[in-house]
Amino acid sequence: MSPFRNEKEEPLLPSSSPSQSARKTRFTFRVAVLLAITLFVTARYLPSCIHSHFSGSLEVEDGVLEAQCPQPDTLVPSKNADLWNELVKGDYKTKVFLDRAVEWLGGAVRVPTESFDKMGDIGVDPRWEAFGPFHDYLLSAYPQVHATLSLTKVNTYGLVYEWKGTDESLKPLLLAAHEDVVPVNPDTVSEWEHPPFSGFFDGEKIWGRGSSDDKSGLIGILSAAETLIEKGFKPTRSIVLAFGFDEEASGLFGASQLAVHLLATYGENTFAFLVDEGGDYMNEFGQTYATPGIAEKGYLDVRVEVESPGGHSSVPPPHTSIGILSALLVHYESNPYTPRLNRGTPMYLKAQCLASHAPELPSPLRTALIKSTKSDKALREAETYLFSDKFFKSLVGTTQAIDLIQGGVKTNALPESAWGVVNHRIATDSSLSEVKEHDTNLLFDLAQKFNLSYTAFGENLSDDSKAYYGKLTLSDAWGAGLSPAPITPTGLGDDAKPFQLLAGTIKATYDLHRGGDDDKGVVVSPGIMSGNTDTRYYWKLTPHIFRYNHHFTGDTGFFKTVHTVNEYIEADAFIEMIQFFTTLILNTDESTVV
Ligand SMILES: *[C@@H]1O[C@H](CO)[C@@H](O)[C@H](O)[C@H]1NC(C)=O
Ligand SMILES: *[C@@H]1O[C@H](CO)[C@@H](O)[C@H](O)[C@H]1NC(C)=O
Ligand SMILES: [Zn+2]
Repeated sequence: MSPFRNEKEEPLLPSSSPSQSARKTRFTFRVAVLLAITLFVTARYLPSCIHSHFSGSLEVEDGVLEAQCPQPDTLVPSKNADLWNELVKGDYKTKVFLDRAVEWLGGAVRVPTESFDKMGDIGVDPRWEAFGPFHDYLLSAYPQVHATLSLTKVNTYGLVYEWKGTDESLKPLLLAAHEDVVPVNPDTVSEWEHPPFSGFFDGEKIWGRGSSDDKSGLIGILSAAETLIEKGFKPTRSIVLAFGFDEEASGLFGASQLAVHLLATYGENTFAFLVDEGGDYMNEFGQTYATPGIAEKGYLDVRVEVESPGGHSSVPPPHTSIGILSALLVHYESNPYTPRLNRGTPMYLKAQCLASHAPELPSPLRTALIKSTKSDKALREAETYLFSDKFFKSLVGTTQAIDLIQGGVKTNALPESAWGVVNHRIATDSSLSEVKEHDTNLLFDLAQKFNLSYTAFGENLSDDSKAYYGKLTLSDAWGAGLSPAPITPTGLGDDAKPFQLLAGTIKATYDLHRGGDDDKGVVVSPGIMSGNTDTRYYWKLTPHIFRYNHHFTGDTGFFKTVHTVNEYIEADAFIEMIQFFTTLILNTDESTVV
């Protein structure tokens, strides 16, 4: 969620930024709010009649619209119906359970588990030791889980719990979360309403770093498991829990090693599906949307380095390495990637869900979106509308941002080299190689102009017969380029049974928690992450990866405070998360289709 990130937390290393964690990437919120603002402004100049057609057009076009954002049926446990009712309609509604849940999460927040960028090895960097007490806490807080599930520690602090089912022929369910939290900036401690590691409960909210990102997820899963075991539940299908411990710093020590362990233990494509942190659910244009992330953008930091002869600056050349680098970087900014909203992409699916179900979506946009399934012209119109929201636009296209620059050592010495790093987030329908090729071509003419040999991503593109004044080198800055994630199947087809199960569970939990008060219910829409979660390492485990927290954020969103001061979660929202995991576990357990 880059717009809300604390700039001071932005690291130099790749994909370790707060902006890449799941919680920071709530496009839904920004689309809703910013598009609403944009369109409100636009609407003031449009004939007022467009506002009167909303509900009418929704009804008339219902059949067409529904097909663009098909909604699976609500799904509740049947075999385990009694147990489910007893818990979600009984126990979970009690004051006793509320106290318990508050204490479970508060206790977890009170064990600080900050992960920092560029940490040293485990056993060497003492900052990792914070995770030991966290494990002790889990052990004491969840006795049933630890008595029933087998626990494997991976790379010391990674946790894999296996809850063995009775039928080994069924693919296990994988639930993921992360133990670590973004560091609290010591300069901002005084700005916290309640100390950042207090886990303070004010009767409504649970405060502190990690209360939502992502201890709510981890504790939500364990609380559901503990309660189910207490009630005597024994799974038919195995359930595996995987908790990383440096998601906020790229998962280099945690999820990357968990992935190796999980692949070695279970093999490729062996899980029914995977749910990790990610999109939440909120109100958009008069309708509540839950938005599981079905993809993640890719990532590439391109290092642009110019080398040219040094010398005394009293006899300068027309362009120094720094001057040339500047020209190259200006050229980058003058030539941004052109984003395209393509049919079939997650953001297009999201837009279709707005068109199909949001009563307050401006009518011209709705019309353009409906026609866009067949008409390219309408697709471009819809695109223009949607791209007036820069967040929506950023999520669709490949982005670029020059984030680092260095060159020169002394005012009287010509700089022999200068370099900059251009950060790219790669569109879900593009690729690493496409971005490399694009950037290589972008700078080709300038390399000629400045008389530089040109090596791009290991390939020397220079003319052997020529002599050059200097060198231009493009490279993957840290060797950490990441392709866009494979897209999880959605819709009502046979390839999307896990999506249907998840969506049905979301609907059931939503309805249940509101006692059926909201007759519009919740619409489940595909969405994407602009950043990367621990799931970046889990692609081989299953094609069905969902980045989703069943966390209601209303109109404004809690994530204003995630990664910055005053992080909190509403206790009611946390209880609903436990209800969600409980329902998900039971629904998955009895499913015969995933
Ligand atoms: C690339 O080739 C050119 C021309 O042969 C040469 O001058 C330059 O040093 C080469 N660059 C690298 C990095 O090898
Ligand atoms: C490029 O630089 C080399 C080395 O300084 C020089 O020999 C060559 O003439 C230059 N080429 C052009 C086109 O200026
Ligand atoms: Zn997170």
